[in-house]
Amino acid sequence: MNIKDLPNKKYFVFDAFGTLFKTSEVKEALTKIAGDKTDKLLEVWRSKQLQYTWLRNEMDQYQPFSTVTKEALDYSMRLNGISDKKVFDILLPLYDTPSLINGVDTLLKVLKQNGKTVAILSNGTPSMLDNGVQLTGIAPYVDAILSVDKIGIYKPKPAVYQMALDQLTATTNELVFFSSNQWDVSGASMFGLDACWINQYGETKEGLPFGNVVELGSLLEVAGLYDGLN
Ligand code: 2OP
Repeated sequence: MNIKDLPNKKYFVFDAFGTLFKTSEVKEALTKIAGDKTDKLLEVWRSKQLQYTWLRNEMDQYQPFSTVTKEALDYSMRLNGISDKKVFDILLPLYDTPSLINGVDTLLKVLKQNGKTVAILSNGTPSMLDNGVQLTGIAPYVDAILSVDKIGIYKPKPAVYQMALDQLTATTNELVFFSSNQWDVSGASMFGLDACWINQYGETKEGLPFGNVVELGSLLEVAGLYDGLN
């Protein structure tokens, strides 16, 4: 796939956390409790959150993303010797109160003006995603919110990308999937979807299998394709 092919697609499907949404900065409040362990607490929390989704997939032991997120935080706190339960009150609501990543509203608006169907495909729970879409004001531009919770399997299992095709009644070549998470781009593209890796954090390419993938620096590059078309 070439970036120039994107306007031919009908269904634009986006990962949520890290791609459309970022969790707000809470470092100041957290540092008061965790001190110099703050960075490690956050780092271990995020990596365990992902690892637990993948391990639960392997074991057929699905629990909602809110539960996995809490279990990962509990582990990170114990690992880092932090027992103050206020950390839960500071960190867990972050997934219900995200803010938008630069360029998201511009792009979604342009896609809707050009008659595209916009969907979110996320490991997040339906309530996290509903809250995020409402709070950030993108609800008018989002046609469908697809949570893995419906099938109880996490990305990057192929069944999740199949669920997106099924729920949108889309064919493979009509749909393009966007994510900043490389494991997600790997999963979607090896399943057979055209995918865009939004490398907005300047990451090194992972040693994972990739199918038909275009690498872009930001979602604004996609919006830029429509300049002059309107
Ligand atoms: C998602 O939104 C967690 O980024 C992951 O599916």
